[in-house]
Amino acid sequence: MKIAIMGAMVEEIEPLLEKMREVKSFELADNIYYEARYKGIDTVIAYSKIGKVYASLTASLMIERFKAQKLLFSGVAGAINDELKIGDLIVAKKLCQHDLDITAFGHPYGYVPEGKVYVESDKELLFLAKEVAKEKKIELKDGIIATGDQFIADPKRKEWIRETFNADALEMEGAAVAVVCDALDVPFFILRAISDAADMDAGFDFDTFLKSSSRRSADFIISMLDKMA
Ligand code: ADE
Repeated sequence: MKIAIMGAMVEEIEPLLEKMREVKSFELADNIYYEARYKGIDTVIAYSKIGKVYASLTASLMIERFKAQKLLFSGVAGAINDELKIGDLIVAKKLCQHDLDITAFGHPYGYVPEGKVYVESDKELLFLAKEVAKEKKIELKDGIIATGDQFIADPKRKEWIRETFNADALEMEGAAVAVVCDALDVPFFILRAISDAADMDAGFDFDTFLKSSSRRSADFIISMLDKMA
């Protein structure tokens, strides 16, 4: 069993690489992929760079070239749901693309023909995460994550995403990874720790909390690997 663990930014995967043994790096498609072992589990780890296109490329290569059989994503997100505070963990039950728009042809937001508005996460990985959270007494929320190629720092746009997709958090890669994994039949899990509230202060908060929230998310992923090992 090989498990892919990906982030979008170097800060999101650094805390994971620190815990790995037998790390080997490979250059591929303008990026670096790390093959490593953790407590007997084979992993491939990479950060994709920001956005849906890079995330799709990385997820596809982890599956097709590195033969990953499950994919875990770790990183940060902007909160939409007011109950989510900086540092809180949220796992996606399902994901959508908030910037996908062919409504001019009568389709709903987030939909293209032969696609679906929401892609659902793997139920077994969700169950495993809940067990880990219970055992470690860590609060883990679940909900809908909306993805788009935009850093949201605008209360109006945030409100529109909440109303249109009933989303709890937003980021820039999750739904792209979900679409790739769904198409290739690979179970996936998208975990995010909140770095900001996608409001006027989002840019400042993101810079301030990127590292600490990335670490919270990565630590939880490590606890999931501990449980799998
Ligand atoms: N990831 C973390 N915060 C975000 C925001 N406000 N917009 C988009 N992606 C994010």
